[in-house]
Amino acid sequence: MTTAHTTQDSSFKAQDLIAEDIDAYLVQHQHKSLLRFITCGSVDDGKSTLIGRLLYDSKMIFEDQLAALEADSKRVGTQGQNIDFALLVDGLAAEREQGITIDVAYRFFSTEKRKFIVADTPGHEQYTRNMVTGASTADLAVILIDARKGVLVQTRRHSYLAHLIGIKNLVLAVNKMDLIGYDHDKYDAIVADYRAFAKSIGIENFTPMPISGFMGDNITTKSENTPWYHGVTLMEHLENVELDVTADQTKPFRMPVQWVNRPNLDFRGFSGLIASGTVKPGDAIRVLPSGKTSTVTRVVTLDGDLPQAIAGQSVTICLADEVDCSRGDVLSLADAPPQVADQFEATLVWMADDAMLPGRSYWLKLGTQMINAQVQAPKYQVNVNTMEHLAAKTLELNAIGVANISTDKPIVFEPYADSRDLGGFILIDKISNATVAAGMLHFSLRRAQNVHWQAHDVPRETHAGLKNQKPALLWFTGLSGAGKSTIANLVEKKLVRMNRHTFLLDGDNVRHGLNKDLGFSEADRIENIRRVGEVAKLMTDAGLIVITAFISPFRAERKLVRDMVKEGEFIEVFIDTKLADAEARDVKGLYKKARAGELKNFTGIDSPYEPPTEPEIHINTSQLSAEEAADLIVSRLIP
Ligand code: ADX
Repeated sequence: MTTAHTTQDSSFKAQDLIAEDIDAYLVQHQHKSLLRFITCGSVDDGKSTLIGRLLYDSKMIFEDQLAALEADSKRVGTQGQNIDFALLVDGLAAEREQGITIDVAYRFFSTEKRKFIVADTPGHEQYTRNMVTGASTADLAVILIDARKGVLVQTRRHSYLAHLIGIKNLVLAVNKMDLIGYDHDKYDAIVADYRAFAKSIGIENFTPMPISGFMGDNITTKSENTPWYHGVTLMEHLENVELDVTADQTKPFRMPVQWVNRPNLDFRGFSGLIASGTVKPGDAIRVLPSGKTSTVTRVVTLDGDLPQAIAGQSVTICLADEVDCSRGDVLSLADAPPQVADQFEATLVWMADDAMLPGRSYWLKLGTQMINAQVQAPKYQVNVNTMEHLAAKTLELNAIGVANISTDKPIVFEPYADSRDLGGFILIDKISNATVAAGMLHFSLRRAQNVHWQAHDVPRETHAGLKNQKPALLWFTGLSGAGKSTIANLVEKKLVRMNRHTFLLDGDNVRHGLNKDLGFSEADRIENIRRVGEVAKLMTDAGLIVITAFISPFRAERKLVRDMVKEGEFIEVFIDTKLADAEARDVKGLYKKARAGELKNFTGIDSPYEPPTEPEIHINTSQLSAEEAADLIVSRLIP
């Protein structure tokens, strides 16, 4: 068996240029395009070896860790120029192992033609979220197959994920060809097998190549061991493959606005990164979601005005008119705007340890837009190994599923298949600020397009004015048996005596009607509170003072309702009773049942209660009687 020879011509040329004219070299280097790619496969498939081979053969390495390895190799007596290949691979594998659970390892290298960032992610199913993170910015994926094993479950999973994330360039690297004696027939069989699978999940194109990371076959030089292979080497492919950003330039113009640039009264521009298309002075522009139009007057950069700017450039755009436009808006070509909607179908990759909660509010971040969003129960979950659709009530860590999402306000978007920038989003937990999911928008739901807000001639002020009062929502929260209903009832009686128009919504009662389909799972409690919140909001619009008595155990949903109603109208009343006291009273005998295991998910026993951190009114029931508590609440509402 012969070792494939690697040429170092390219690095020699670069070295010469560095020696002769360092400035020219730096300019050339700066203007090199950047390819981001991901390698998929497990350590067994030879991933570290392949990455090591690319770094080693490209020689143009500017990574700290490599410098360290070089120092290491000097210490052990190897000549500095020749970093020992085995040592390099060991170093990469060790680093990968250390980093395996935390994130994705990014490595940088460069050749004369291009710069590269390779994302190295662990291959096991429990690291699906890591792979999705690494793939989310990649232009290309190298799917590694061990030639002795062929297409495996994980090959399918990785391909599915890469395709889902929208990576258009897939390389099927049939590795370890040396270990199957460079057998052409076996190679063809693997490629045919993969092609059949790829087609079944909608992958139209991929570039297969027979390689050996260990021996260096077809990595940077064509191998003499595979004379039957007429394609390019892996490095040639990486250096020449068309980049997404180039393709983006031919699409219609879109720029999510990052900030409004207004250094003085004479200048007002909208700054951002152009996601697709080109823009120049004179272009007719539409600002979304408002739909207002104007004309571009200037395209400004740090290096002065441009006659034209293209996808991938950061610019500040000035418009002829004083149109309303702020962070999160999108500038687009006037006659080819993206869509605007507030309900969508999307694929979600769940990335948090806590499962998804249908109905809970998360922050949805799409481009520069950040908005309140709720996810409905999944339509189905995808088995990432077999691509089967399974029924699901929620999505657990690493699960992938399809669900409908609604946002509080319309957002500007494009289907993910058309634009990663305007179709890809993340969901963020509002309390922990952690990213809980990555998502891909498919399309807006038609019902959202066909349901419009109806403007009425009688405004909410009139309703309240007729009643001679200010609307309010007194939101009681506390354990079962804390005394919410009792105190709420007294408060209502006192208010009515003062000629106020009130309405009391009580947990046990609402659960007999509007919410009789709901139980006490986390998801059902979230939906319970969401519905009650919407009803209470309508009643405040009608001018009423609404009193609600629900356990409402979760901070997130109390916050949801707070944000739903008009500012200042939400008054959180914490009925604070020790669990032991509520249990001792046990008016309905439910604590006894819960302790006996006859009642599941009972608040305070086997379901959590999150006390308010800053309630407007805090009632300590061990210090006040119900009557005193009610007087205090009324006096706070009507001083
Ligand atoms: S909430 O959690 O969704 O806000 P809600 O206030 O509507 O609860 O209903 C609570 C009432 O339902 C309790 O006062 C109690 O009478 C009854 N209940 C029945 N099962 C449970 C349970 N598992 N946990 C809490 N309350 C329960």
